[in-house]
Amino acid sequence: MFDIKDKEFTKLSEYMKTYYGINLKPEKKPLVVSRLQNVLSECNFPDFTTYLNYVMSDKTGEAATTLINKLTTNHTFFMREAEHFSYFKNTVLPYLSSTQTNKKDLRIWSAGCSSGEEPYTLAMIISDYFGPSRDLWDTKILATDISSNVLEEATKAKYSNEEISELPKLWKTKYFESINGQNFRVCETIRSEVIFRKFNLNNTSFPFSKKFHVIFCRNVMIYFDSNTKNELVDKFYKLTEPGGYLFIGLSESLDRNESKYNYIMPSVYRRD
Ligand SMILES: C[S@@+](CC[C@H](N)C(=O)[O-])C[C@H]1O[C@@H](n2cnc3c(N)ncnc32)[C@H](O)[C@@H]1O
Repeated sequence: MFDIKDKEFTKLSEYMKTYYGINLKPEKKPLVVSRLQNVLSECNFPDFTTYLNYVMSDKTGEAATTLINKLTTNHTFFMREAEHFSYFKNTVLPYLSSTQTNKKDLRIWSAGCSSGEEPYTLAMIISDYFGPSRDLWDTKILATDISSNVLEEATKAKYSNEEISELPKLWKTKYFESINGQNFRVCETIRSEVIFRKFNLNNTSFPFSKKFHVIFCRNVMIYFDSNTKNELVDKFYKLTEPGGYLFIGLSESLDRNESKYNYIMPSVYRRD
């Protein structure tokens, strides 16, 4: 069993904050140690100091990828915070489809998408909403995360019976293919609507050529400190189309003095 010294924890926290915006609070120490135990023992690192030096000097980025895969919290599930999806379906899509009739181009970003449940749900709602005329629209969803593990899961698009139990019955037959009666795969038409990419929200540059009509960044900024969060919200704002929306987690809120977004309802914001 490895122990982490205060100095080592501080070094790790500073690294996580600087590169990923993630705020590792001191009470997370036992969790951090337990998540990294196997990495240290499997790679024969004698202690955290040696391990951290290795991560920080590894030019391939592989050690950092492993660290991120271990330390990010990726908990998610289908229909999480379902009121957002109702609002998206009943208010946001009717507004966007009536204002984008010429371009027929909707740009949606699921930032911090974890294993794909959030962007796939959005793709299914969009598919239902447009019906046969969806082919006339470009409704691709960009889904990004910093963890390569969850992105791999998301791309596989395989979920158990239990994981899809909260979805409408019709969706299970319409949008999923049974693998063995217990596990299901999101069907190709929905999978092809979501583009998964690795992207660090703490990057200084956000190289997106076009603005988004809707950004979902739910339950991600809770791991960031307020400066990192405010800077990120400012970047989101600049990347939101006029009249476009930002959804954050229900337990989160924006600092009204810092953010230019208008408050619509808890955890839903809109650009003028
Ligand atoms: C708790 S999950 C939220 C998933 C989904 N949005 C939801 O609400 O269910 C948080 C996700 O944010 C990702 N994340 C954390 N820091 C990030 C960063 N700096 N850049 C991109 N993604 C990050 C994590 O890897 C994780 O998958």
